[in-house]
Amino acid sequence: MPGPILIFDSGVGGLSVVPPLRRRLPEAALVYACDNAMLPYGTRPDDWLVARILAVCDAAVAASGCCALVVACNTASTLALDALRAHLAVPVVGTVPAIKPAAAISASRHIGLLATSATVSRPYTDRLIEAFASDCRVTRVAADPLVREAERLLAGDEPDHDVIRAVLEPLRRAPDLDTVVLGCTHFPLLGERLVAAFPRPVRLVDSSDAIARRTVQVAGDPAPRTKRDSSLATAPDAGLARAMATLDFDEPRLLIVG
Ligand code: DGL
Repeated sequence: MPGPILIFDSGVGGLSVVPPLRRRLPEAALVYACDNAMLPYGTRPDDWLVARILAVCDAAVAASGCCALVVACNTASTLALDALRAHLAVPVVGTVPAIKPAAAISASRHIGLLATSATVSRPYTDRLIEAFASDCRVTRVAADPLVREAERLLAGDEPDHDVIRAVLEPLRRAPDLDTVVLGCTHFPLLGERLVAAFPRPVRLVDSSDAIARRTVQVAGDPAPRTKRDSSLATAPDAGLARAMATLDFDEPRLLIVG
């Protein structure tokens, strides 16, 4: 009996992967799981995070009976993908910063990386830059406050534009920078607000369509969608319930993490 596709993030960021997934797999049932009790992940210690991600994904895989897991979180993927693959029996698709496509389109060879504190400083990220953007200048910005602003937006509040401008300042004042990697799945949710905060045109690049393409390859024949998709959360939250409803998910059920 095939299962749904499970999407996991700390919060609502993984919802940025849902539209491309539904475009490519319109018939597939999805389950969204988030660890909102422990949001944000981006400022937490690595050892704690690995243990927590394994425990939450274990519980969510069991609760959903999924056919594949999409880790729609750069902070989790750049740290725990190998551990998850070794631990789980289902295929795991990860999300890592889109350094390669950004370097492929940058004319000025100066790109920005906007991600959580954890992701900007990970060895995984160093390796991506070394492999795909060694001829580029890469300005890395730890943009943790944008996670909260994206959560606010999906809960129905307007994000704070001063916070967005302040976080983007190191990129805004680099006149030759032409491409920005959104290396956190929360950030595409702020897309037009990020573009508006720049004094000149920049291209934003994220991984969501690549994740959807990869999921098509590994998911096999997922369970068909028969009603609204379902969701799981580690804490009750009215704002989250609203965000899930706007993307046609049922109100989250509580996920008990062992
Ligand atoms: N959305 C997540 C990411 O892609 C993490 C946000 C957070 O919890 O800090 O990195």
